[in-house]
Amino acid sequence: MSHLKAWRSAIVHCIADPKDVGISAAYEYFEDGLLVIEDDKIYALGHAKDLLSSLPQGTVVEHHPDAIITPGFIDTHIHYPQTDMIGSYGEQLLTWLNTYTFPEESKFSDKAHAKEVAERFLSELLRNGTTTALVFGTVHKVSVDAFFEACEVHNLRMICGKVMMDRNAPDYLTDTPESSYQESKELIDTWHNKGRLHYAITPRFAPTSSDEQLQLAGKLLGEYKDVYMHTHLSENKDECAWVQDLFPQSTNYLDVYDQHKLLSERSVFAHGIHLCDSEYHRLHETGSAISFCPTSNLFIGSGLFKLSKAEEHKVNVGLGTDVGGGTSFSMLQTLNEAYKVIQLQNENLNPIKSLYLSTLGGARALRLEDKIGNLAVGSEADFILLDKKATPLLKSRLALSKNIEESLFVFMTIGDDRAIQATYSAGKCVHQR
Ligand code: GUN
Ligand code: ZN
Repeated sequence: MSHLKAWRSAIVHCIADPKDVGISAAYEYFEDGLLVIEDDKIYALGHAKDLLSSLPQGTVVEHHPDAIITPGFIDTHIHYPQTDMIGSYGEQLLTWLNTYTFPEESKFSDKAHAKEVAERFLSELLRNGTTTALVFGTVHKVSVDAFFEACEVHNLRMICGKVMMDRNAPDYLTDTPESSYQESKELIDTWHNKGRLHYAITPRFAPTSSDEQLQLAGKLLGEYKDVYMHTHLSENKDECAWVQDLFPQSTNYLDVYDQHKLLSERSVFAHGIHLCDSEYHRLHETGSAISFCPTSNLFIGSGLFKLSKAEEHKVNVGLGTDVGGGTSFSMLQTLNEAYKVIQLQNENLNPIKSLYLSTLGGARALRLEDKIGNLAVGSEADFILLDKKATPLLKSRLALSKNIEESLFVFMTIGDDRAIQATYSAGKCVHQR
């Protein structure tokens, strides 16, 4: 028996950012393709007619003529403790946090609760085809232990961190500069780079951290060469005004983080809607990334992300669902809303750019492009099967599609969790519809 395994299907993946090389050079498409896996890695990718004859005798080949294989999706901003408060009515950011979010997050002092939610959260990600995510925990250390323990069961490549928050939040949900530094450090020592897991230092956002806490977060970031930093930036107009009041010494919102040494190649800032040119410039200069979260930005009324501005300034951008401010775990539905956000600014989001943002672009934002984000030989075998017959509407609409770009666009407009036939992580099936 061969230790290789192969999938025969249409296959598409991005190999570059369309903004750098144009649309057609940014992706590879195999109408009748073959993806060959050896253990947890991609061993070969190409046209079935070229590769089939070279497979060792006995290699199992799964044939899926009604599917399209793509890399697994990468969600660059999501809150696992907000799973059960998705769809909370009627508020914008600051009231939404106080009314719904903080009470919900208080439940995660209980590890048993955290474990139960983490497991449901991960199965929700996997049934939506998301194989890697950058994830907020809560202020409780046990929330992160519970999350990573759940990830280990499926051998997922995931990033998470404990929220640091020492002011402007209820007492039951605050830590101190010292305890947040110490607990984050302990979590890094336990979890960072354990198997496929990574740690992100996670100050919630500038308003809920004192100067001392942000300073210690920056110190911690400097102590580890490849730890992440994950926070929110410039999401809501009232929030931006509040930051200016709280940090009068800063020249703009990003500058608060900059002054505390929190900008880096592994820093990811969710939203970044209301930025000035110098903030884009500084994000670029430091190799920091923005997570574009369209369903959240619309649902909590935050504003329209300016993708073209970020591109103009060569800022790395990934896509995020931001559940529970966001309204769907589905990256397909997130791309549906992303398209509309860009439409409202009289521009178009090309489906190849959308594929890029949800796969390779996310991997680049997370500096993981040597491991995940496309199907290059040697990459980790994180991939999904999109089912062209998943629903009657997908089936009839896709039957009329003229090319792969149109087919992807249809999936990104009317597709959701039902379109994900199977999800593979490190070569193992982790979801089958
Ligand atoms: N800003 C600070 N905390 C949060 C949060 O939990 N969700 C969102 N969308 N924005 C935030
Ligand atoms: Zn968020």
